[in-house]
Amino acid sequence: MRKTICILPGDGIGPEIMAQARKVLDRLGARQGCTFACTEALIGGAAIDATGGPLPGDTVAACKAADAVLLGAVGGPKWDTIDPAIRPERGLLGIRKALGLFANLRPAKLFPQLRRACFLRPDIVADGLDVMVVRELTGGAYFGEPRGVEVRDGVRVGYNTMIYDEHEVARIARVAFEAAMRRSRRLCSVDKANVLDVSRLWREVVIETARDYPEVALSHMYVDNAAMQLVRDPAQFDVLVTENLFGDILSDEAGCITGSIGMLPSASLGADGPGLYEPIHGSAPDIAGQDRANPLATILSVAMMLRHSLDMPAAADAVEAAVSAVLDAGWRTGDIREEGCRMAGCEKMGDLVAEKL
Ligand code: IPM
Ligand code: MG
Repeated sequence: MRKTICILPGDGIGPEIMAQARKVLDRLGARQGCTFACTEALIGGAAIDATGGPLPGDTVAACKAADAVLLGAVGGPKWDTIDPAIRPERGLLGIRKALGLFANLRPAKLFPQLRRACFLRPDIVADGLDVMVVRELTGGAYFGEPRGVEVRDGVRVGYNTMIYDEHEVARIARVAFEAAMRRSRRLCSVDKANVLDVSRLWREVVIETARDYPEVALSHMYVDNAAMQLVRDPAQFDVLVTENLFGDILSDEAGCITGSIGMLPSASLGADGPGLYEPIHGSAPDIAGQDRANPLATILSVAMMLRHSLDMPAAADAVEAAVSAVLDAGWRTGDIREEGCRMAGCEKMGDLVAEKL
């Protein structure tokens, strides 16, 4: 069996964490008699430096030709003052759009071994914390037209358009209902239907879609309340579905309350074609090149890739079990310092997981 993976290391800690992912893939390939053929391509600041733009055409072509795409992170202070039209982040948004990756799955789970690292009071997470945020990824204010900054009657104005058509809402709702069917069959749709017209349509279409999923208990929540409920009583949630901008914010919140943004993977999927997998943390330029990054979010993204794009669920389980075993043995990276733990750098953490495989 041969699978092709396009690796986009990107910026900051991207190259270091990607090296650990490759280590795990090599080990797994050897064990499972499978070849993971990896190609590398440029994105973000690295692409700007080399080619003048954050998403070269070659990169899009390499991604489309692969079975799956694995991305590190993009951005950093070096490119903060660059023309907004070619910022590193535009590379990420561009590849999502080019591959039609409308569904972003962001599981936020508290590892039992990391209970003490959780930001929430122990009584609040007594029942654990395991939320799946399903974020719409190619619509809403991120891509809506018109958009811009201009001068009107001598006054500068900036604007974006939060826009969805019913088909865009229905297809992401379907992904969320399917996810809920595989979990505990509770789905909460998050919107701002008390204020935004676009949210009124969102809610209407989600309710229509629910007719095909009578087993799923559907609820609705305004986004401000959802942000509050996530820290007040996160166990009430199983799957959350929401539009692009709300999902960007809520997925960071859901991730960070687990205490370890360095542990959280994500998958971005389209109707067909390769999926894209990336850790949800950013490029962390402050620790780049120092062998201090936590590679586990990336390694867990590899597990999601094996499950969702490469049809290798047993291998995905094996990777997750290896991560869990390394945590059981007390190993932590600098982002999750705990009393009495054993500290590992990025390289070492990658080695430990590969060994457990
Ligand atoms: C994310 C990031 C991106 C987003 C940025 C880097 C463009 O915050 O993946 O959540 O806003 O989608
Ligand atoms: Mg974000």
